[in-house]
Amino acid sequence: MLASELREKYFHFFKERGHIHIPSAPLLPENDPTVLFTPAGMQPLVPYLLGETHPQGRRLVNVQRCIRTNDIVEVGDASHLTFFEMLGNWSLGDYFKQESLAWSYEFLTNVLGLDPLRLAVTVFEGDDRAARDDESAAIWRKLGMPSERIFALPREDNWWGPVGSSGPCGPDSEIFFDTGKSGHPGCRPGCPCGKWFEIWNNVFMEYKRTPKGEYEKLSQRNVDTGMGVDRTVAVLNGMDDIFRIETVQPVVDCLERLSGRAYADTPRPFRIISDHVRAAVMAIADGAHPSNVDAGYVVRRMVRRAVVYAHQLGITQPFFGELSVVVLDIFSPVYPEIVTQCDSIAQVLEQEAQRFEHTLERGLKQYHRVIGNLLENEQKIISAEQAFDLFQTYGFPLPLTVELAEQADLQVDEAGFEHLFAEHQEISRRGMDKKFGGGLGDHTEQSTRYHTATHLLHAALRQVLDTEAGVRQMGSNITPERLRFDFAAVQKLTPEQLQQVEALVNQQIQRDLPVSYEVLPREAALNSGALAFFGEKYGEQVKVYSIGDFSKEVCGGPHVAHTAELGRFRIVKEEAVGRGVRRIRAVLE
Ligand code: SER
Repeated sequence: MLASELREKYFHFFKERGHIHIPSAPLLPENDPTVLFTPAGMQPLVPYLLGETHPQGRRLVNVQRCIRTNDIVEVGDASHLTFFEMLGNWSLGDYFKQESLAWSYEFLTNVLGLDPLRLAVTVFEGDDRAARDDESAAIWRKLGMPSERIFALPREDNWWGPVGSSGPCGPDSEIFFDTGKSGHPGCRPGCPCGKWFEIWNNVFMEYKRTPKGEYEKLSQRNVDTGMGVDRTVAVLNGMDDIFRIETVQPVVDCLERLSGRAYADTPRPFRIISDHVRAAVMAIADGAHPSNVDAGYVVRRMVRRAVVYAHQLGITQPFFGELSVVVLDIFSPVYPEIVTQCDSIAQVLEQEAQRFEHTLERGLKQYHRVIGNLLENEQKIISAEQAFDLFQTYGFPLPLTVELAEQADLQVDEAGFEHLFAEHQEISRRGMDKKFGGGLGDHTEQSTRYHTATHLLHAALRQVLDTEAGVRQMGSNITPERLRFDFAAVQKLTPEQLQQVEALVNQQIQRDLPVSYEVLPREAALNSGALAFFGEKYGEQVKVYSIGDFSKEVCGGPHVAHTAELGRFRIVKEEAVGRGVRRIRAVLE
């Protein structure tokens, strides 16, 4: 089945059930400072979910163009896209769980013809803030779902929203398709092993989170559902790679033509370029031109990553123009409002790419000098130091160095690089400005996010613990997977304190605070009240990083430009690591 058929069938089904088809909102939200891009169909509807009257009534349906920036570093596998389309149907204080779940099931099994035996569902297991969703479980059983395929899961799996610091939210019930893979032992829907593919989410938005973090019942009970077009089309066509579906494949095909290489041989760079070009074209079409701030900054990062990965595929000629036309051909029939600017979108992208090429050229020259020396000395391994210099001075992400090395039949001391990287973060944290502005590699981007999160955590701990001596940092360690922060404290933190710290950090992320720095003489910096790392040796001049009004810390960087880039912050563990030293491990999701 084609994406176009899926959209039509969906609209038809819900129109027959009294829904009005509303247009997709733009990707750049109007009057909503809580998000950079529209992340879901419900976001433009927030005022109506909160009780405002919608001019089209209480039952709505649409397909929304969405971008989720948290997913940028995930792109490269078979299922992640930053730009995607979401089908949704809404009840604004009208029908609730019974109709919503019954219609979802009917649509999937009767209209789309999915085998009911390959579906499984989840419901909210309940906690101290909201009750277990027995009602949804009972509805699923009545619809014919066997009990062993109804999973009750905690808040982190089965509670949706709010997207910003406050707003509508509620328990959800997610529908998964079993790909038939054997899966991890004990695998259940939501397990990342790839056995279960999430296709539809039904959120029962009867709560509102207040800016203080409390949960209140809304005056009306809403339904918000979201079905990913790309994923569902992949499932319907028995594909386990969304880059093969008709709204993505033409971009991949065009890249194959431009590079003369096969997608199947090296899918990762093809996926990254295809995803980023789709997202950049659609974002620019909605007015997000590349820049150093906010949505424009995300577009800039995507363009630069696309250029780097295009080099890996051997594409050196301008390629954005041709790819933009392909992307617009795919989406202009679905979103007619975006067609008008075809020429200028290609032009904006080409100009942006050209500006970046120059820096990249310098890095490539240095790379060739390095391998020239190696070959002269009959060596086969690019040392950790050389790889690190390429990264630090020229902004080369490690995967790029590795890929280029492979082409020359050379290896890279990757473990040594990781070691240097961690050491650098931990000990010298100075002078590591990102040469390429946004940071190119997954490695850089992810660690940079953790670095900024560490500052937020440090400041939040000081607020929550509020001890006379303050919280003294004893160490920190960052990997692309998590952060670790050690500090002096006599007592274990209570669950409430941990929760407060976590909430405080997330609030700062949601406030999307700007991150900036100034260079000051060391004494002036320390006297200004900026936090400093115990045990760090500082030079005469230091950088002082500020995160809005929340944190001020002496540090070499790099950091993200805005806190919204961090996603969601979660404390995973708090423990003692020696006398008077506590350790917090946390992740960004
Ligand atoms: N808001 C929910 C989601 O994005 C359902 O639309 O998954």
